[in-house]
Amino acid sequence: MDPKANTLPSQADQKLQQEFNQWAAAGRGDEMEDHHSDITDQTLALMDLQPADRILDLGCGTGWASRRMARVATKGEIVGLDVADEMLRRAEQASPAFKNIRYVWGSAEKIPAADNAFTKVLSVESFYYHADQGKALDELHRVIAPGGKIFILINLYKDNHYSLRWVAELKVAVQALSEAEYIALLKRHGFSGVEAHRIPDRSPTPETYSGKWFKNAEELRDFKRIGALLLIATKD
Ligand SMILES: C[S@@+](CC[C@H](N)C(=O)[O-])C[C@H]1O[C@@H](n2cnc3c(N)ncnc32)[C@H](O)[C@@H]1O
Repeated sequence: MDPKANTLPSQADQKLQQEFNQWAAAGRGDEMEDHHSDITDQTLALMDLQPADRILDLGCGTGWASRRMARVATKGEIVGLDVADEMLRRAEQASPAFKNIRYVWGSAEKIPAADNAFTKVLSVESFYYHADQGKALDELHRVIAPGGKIFILINLYKDNHYSLRWVAELKVAVQALSEAEYIALLKRHGFSGVEAHRIPDRSPTPETYSGKWFKNAEELRDFKRIGALLLIATKD
């Protein structure tokens, strides 16, 4: 990871970098592994990972999902891309045993990779932060090889109404689209075989909830029951 070797395309990306560097410094990168683990494992099971896969982990944070995939893609490569260099520093620190992971600093809207570089893309809880989602999809379409698949997993989308509360609370702008709007967007940007799945979070919910995102544990349980939105699409 070399922050000087690349540039961020927009002010929005620079804001994301600042915000998520702060999250990383506060230890929130590691917390996300707990929060996203169950829905990500269900997604990994659908990805049919192969030893030779070359996989982009878009918005990889501290790289825990990259490491899970690297244990399977032993003859391939995982590239963890993130706009927040502090997330990547922590990802590198946690990955000395993995020779098949590379962490790269940059934006989803200007992916530092060759055309057709990847067989699969995974993106966990990152896509709604991209200021220009269309540009990000054009980039994904460019870097994925023909026949390759993208897997975009998000908890913030219109059809899970609890998640819309986050829009006003987050310090950076986010996009809140519905499942139907995402399907149309993926098709407009050249993807085929577009599928939308709901992924309930099956992790245990504590009896009491004292955080700021839900009124009580019952709401949190309902949010998890409605589940994350997983978008899967193919490049022909
Ligand atoms: C909520 S965190 C999720 C991190 C990780 N996937 C996980 O589940 O632990 C969102 C991540 O996406 C990254 N991100 C947001 N917008 C991005 C963009 N336009 N390009 C690259 N990374 C981005 C952030 O820096 C942050 O690390």
